[in-house]
Amino acid sequence: MKQISLNFPAKTKTCTIHIGKRIFERIGTLFDFHKYSKTFVITDQNIEPLFLKRIMKSLPIPNAFIVMVPGEKEKNIESVSKIWTAMHEAQCDRKSLVINIGGGVVCDMGGFAASTYMRGVDFIHIPTTLLAQVDASIGGKTGIDFSGVKNLIGTFNQPVGVIIDTQTLATLPKREFLSGFAEIIKHGLIKSEEYFELVTAKHPSKFTQSEMIDIVAKSIEIKTAIVQSDETESNVRKLLNFGHTIGHAIEALGLESSTPLLHGEAISIGMLVEARISHLANLLSISDLEKIEEALTTAELPVSSTGINIDKVLKKIKSDKKNEKGKVNLTLLRGIGDALYNQNVPEITIINALRKA
Ligand SMILES: NC(=O)c1ccc[n+]([C@@H]2O[C@H](COP(=O)([O-])OP(=O)(O)OC[C@H]3O[C@@H](n4cnc5c(N)ncnc54)[C@H](O)[C@@H]3O)[C@@H](O)[C@H]2O)c1
Ligand SMILES: [Zn+2]
Repeated sequence: MKQISLNFPAKTKTCTIHIGKRIFERIGTLFDFHKYSKTFVITDQNIEPLFLKRIMKSLPIPNAFIVMVPGEKEKNIESVSKIWTAMHEAQCDRKSLVINIGGGVVCDMGGFAASTYMRGVDFIHIPTTLLAQVDASIGGKTGIDFSGVKNLIGTFNQPVGVIIDTQTLATLPKREFLSGFAEIIKHGLIKSEEYFELVTAKHPSKFTQSEMIDIVAKSIEIKTAIVQSDETESNVRKLLNFGHTIGHAIEALGLESSTPLLHGEAISIGMLVEARISHLANLLSISDLEKIEEALTTAELPVSSTGINIDKVLKKIKSDKKNEKGKVNLTLLRGIGDALYNQNVPEITIINALRKA
């Protein structure tokens, strides 16, 4: 089992991340439960039959739980209200510990409910999708979608711990697994050419369990190194937004359609468009751009979207909360493993890159 300890000075909080196989049942030994009055478990209907009983049995102190309807559409204030109500009815107090077991939706929403209930109670994430393991559960961003904008409402709040159990990936649908892999490829693109080469050397499903433990650990290392130096996203953390300005817009538009894309799928298209913008802005070589397209295609991730509505994408981009003073701030690539944040490019460059998507 691997263990990573993170210190976040801004909130004087330590978050311990445990990564391994068959470890979530050992939760009682991984954390100190003495300081908590009870646990409140948040999960969704897909996870309930797979893991809920086992997790409840492993908890050493009294507990209650809520099972949510799965899906991004449920990551809203009504769902959070249901969680708050259930926590109140279960008589959760300030000493309660929330445990989110599920994908990024459960982690984001459960983390938000926990960080606002009674002005904030401690929480642990047990991410069960690859995307949540390498991304959503790490870094302390919680939140919900609001008014058609992804993650418009939320907090920066670190979990006290994260348990990443690779056994949970066995039941994950292939499409979800590949979607999570997009974030792994992103970590290589923004920080390490060597890691990019490693994770794109073969099809994602060809990595063994122990190789996956190492890959997940390395991705977390890359993400946490960035987050620790900039917990509240004033600067360096923007590197992690690579692919996300365009990707979030495409994801949001997809949610309004009958064929929504998964987060990682939208980010894959976003990464290629933003790599193309990097090339058009004379930052990225054509050979690196082609290498990125090939890597995403090999990983069976989408690199284009049929019938992309450029006007709608631009409108969504402009309403992105990450923009400051009306400027579209992009994270672009100067090479594989070398990213630059706060890059402004003329709108026509974005349009030209989108035209090819
Ligand atoms: N907070 C952050 O920093 C951050 C970063 C990246 C993404 N996110 C958020 O994460 C969300 C996407 O997360 P996701 O991709 O995990 O989606 P998700 O939570 O919707 O999970 C995907 C689907 O897989 C099911 N599932 C989960 N684990 C399973 C398992 N082990 N076996 C079988 N089925 C399983 C879920 O019930 C769901 O139907 C988005 O809302 C995104 O905004 C947050
Ligand atoms: Zn993402």
